[in-house]
Amino acid sequence: MKILAIETSCDETAAAVIEGDMSPKISSNVISSQIDIHKDFGGVVPEVAARAHIENIIPVITRALKESHATLDDIDYLAVTRGPGLIGSLVVGVETVKAISAARNIPIVPVNHLEGHLYANFLDTKPQFPLLALIVSGGHTMLVLVREHLSYKVIGTTRDDAAGEAFDKAAKLLGLPYPGGPAISKAAEKGDKDRYSFPIIDLTEKPYRDKDGFLRYPEPSLDFSFSGLKTALLKIVKEKKSFTKGEVNNLAASFEKAIVDNLLKNVLLAIERHKPKTFILSGGVAANRKLRENLKQELENKYPKVQYLIPEITLCTDNAAMIGAAAFYHIKKGSIEKESLIPVPNLKIS
Ligand code: KG4
Ligand code: ZN
Repeated sequence: MKILAIETSCDETAAAVIEGDMSPKISSNVISSQIDIHKDFGGVVPEVAARAHIENIIPVITRALKESHATLDDIDYLAVTRGPGLIGSLVVGVETVKAISAARNIPIVPVNHLEGHLYANFLDTKPQFPLLALIVSGGHTMLVLVREHLSYKVIGTTRDDAAGEAFDKAAKLLGLPYPGGPAISKAAEKGDKDRYSFPIIDLTEKPYRDKDGFLRYPEPSLDFSFSGLKTALLKIVKEKKSFTKGEVNNLAASFEKAIVDNLLKNVLLAIERHKPKTFILSGGVAANRKLRENLKQELENKYPKVQYLIPEITLCTDNAAMIGAAAFYHIKKGSIEKESLIPVPNLKIS
């Protein structure tokens, strides 16, 4: 089976050819990043992103086919990100795939971008069910329990900013370039992570008395909140007014530690509660070295029997190979939706 997958949900125009019969393998994986275009604006400008997708999509698809030594005649299925994402960006991928499908009579498999991130882990490895996934990207932060292929239960989510968004906003406050995650991470390498302290956020509800007067303790919450960390950073920046490069590095290191520690706390709680066989880290923030290392260390110490999987760095941030991997399992399960395909900017995972 050969799948041509396309991803255009945000600011990467991506196409990949995925093949395999038992499990999905990457035959080609082409990503055209728009970082240089958006850098000067300090973030993604939706209209600019949409226009760049229109310019890039055909060359990117052509290259993905060429690199896998295939033509459209060899393609059995088309996969595309249906959402969540920016509407103007999603439309480009979806309409391109519809046009190819109409011209060549190839079926389309719509994929949720978040399940794509999760399935980046199914390209080289074989996770065991039930599995727990932490999806951390620029738009989402969630803990998802997966009992079998394509069956998702969100057990924790952010109440405000996503982890990647917090990195991006913090970088702006510190005068570091976009995208903020890699910039903070780089500055943090030279900084002292213990120089500033940021809070660990616990969203667990307060104990309460039930109708019989007994004190009840609600289960610890698996939800996240990052906007308070950003406000704490803003306060420090405002109070100090100007910083040496060394202080920026210290702030970056302390802020990165705070995000990692907040994520780690809920991951450990969720593993303890749900006893998964595999833990998967995915999404753009999964490229963060501190997060990858600290999770590995904690899991090895506390849950050595839990299989720990993270995609290689290029498969953490947006790409089309992960969309093809998720499509592979939709096809295997026969769960391709027949209704007419429209992009859904706020598509949920379950
Ligand atoms: O998954 P992704 O490529 O796009 C979305 O679906 O949002 O994630 C992008 C996010 C950005 O917020 C970026 O700052 C963050 O991932 N990111 C990182 C790193 N690389 C990318 N965050 C922390 N450390 C990194 N090394
Ligand atoms: Zn993403």
